[in-house]
Amino acid sequence: MKVIATYNIKGGVGKTATAVNLAWLAAREGAPTLVWDLDPQGAASYYYRIKPKIKGGGKRLVQGKRDLDGFIRGTDYELLDLLPADFSYRNMDLYLEQTKKPIHQLHKLLRPFRSEYYYVFLDCPPSISLVSENIFDAADVVLVPTIPTTLSLRTYQQIKKFFKLQELDTVKVMPFFSMVDRRKQLHRSIVDTPPDYMENLLTTPIPYDSNVERMGTHRTPVADFAPNSRSARSYEGLWEDIKQQLSRLK
Ligand SMILES: Nc1ncnc2c1ncn2[C@@H]1O[C@H](COP(=O)(O)OP(=O)(O)O)[C@@H](O)[C@H]1O
Ligand SMILES: [Mg+2]
Repeated sequence: MKVIATYNIKGGVGKTATAVNLAWLAAREGAPTLVWDLDPQGAASYYYRIKPKIKGGGKRLVQGKRDLDGFIRGTDYELLDLLPADFSYRNMDLYLEQTKKPIHQLHKLLRPFRSEYYYVFLDCPPSISLVSENIFDAADVVLVPTIPTTLSLRTYQQIKKFFKLQELDTVKVMPFFSMVDRRKQLHRSIVDTPPDYMENLLTTPIPYDSNVERMGTHRTPVADFAPNSRSARSYEGLWEDIKQQLSRLK
């Protein structure tokens, strides 16, 4: 089982779009895949047409007092399952704090799925908190969608700094360029000549493409309704990059 998180301190950078599209690709290739929607806003759940609700709230689930299995839902796609979000996840930091090993709780919760799923995607909320620390601990790969602008690069550096501060291994941090608009000079210049500090930069950028926005109306991954679009093809390229990195990490 490989755990892949889509993470950024910032919101609106393409975390959810990436998790939803990559997980779909993984399942289509025949790998049993789970997406855990950790964002109380529940966007990943919405895209997969599943109500973002955990019966009885998320507290006992997060604290390991309830079996996660019972909350997993099948999506419309073969081999692709979802653990839905819940609005109570906004308090996840508090729930985690009350556990024995607050930083390792998510890792512990995922352990029973080792034989069941080949990939687990964690769609993360935009924050830097105990939840994020759990995600960094549990994930084999932390994908960081980065819009090629000065401020987004700064955010990426803050994430790396946090990793170092917590003595976490930065090899799992893998940025990639997201929502790239080549009509913009700044985007072009950053994507064509990425700064040296962007270690483990994945090679395929995801272009800005209105088809990704249309996922909200279709409520399906982009490859499902626009398989030949630039974004669908780019997600495929990005997925190949990630699998290559995963084999290198072994
Ligand atoms: N490559 C893209 N091109 C165009 N729009 C995008 C792209 N990626 C994401 N979006 C849109 O931007 C918004 C934020 O994306 P989302 O994946 O929800 O970000 P996050 O999870 O980081 O908050 C959504 O409306 C989404 O449809
Ligand atoms: Mg999101």
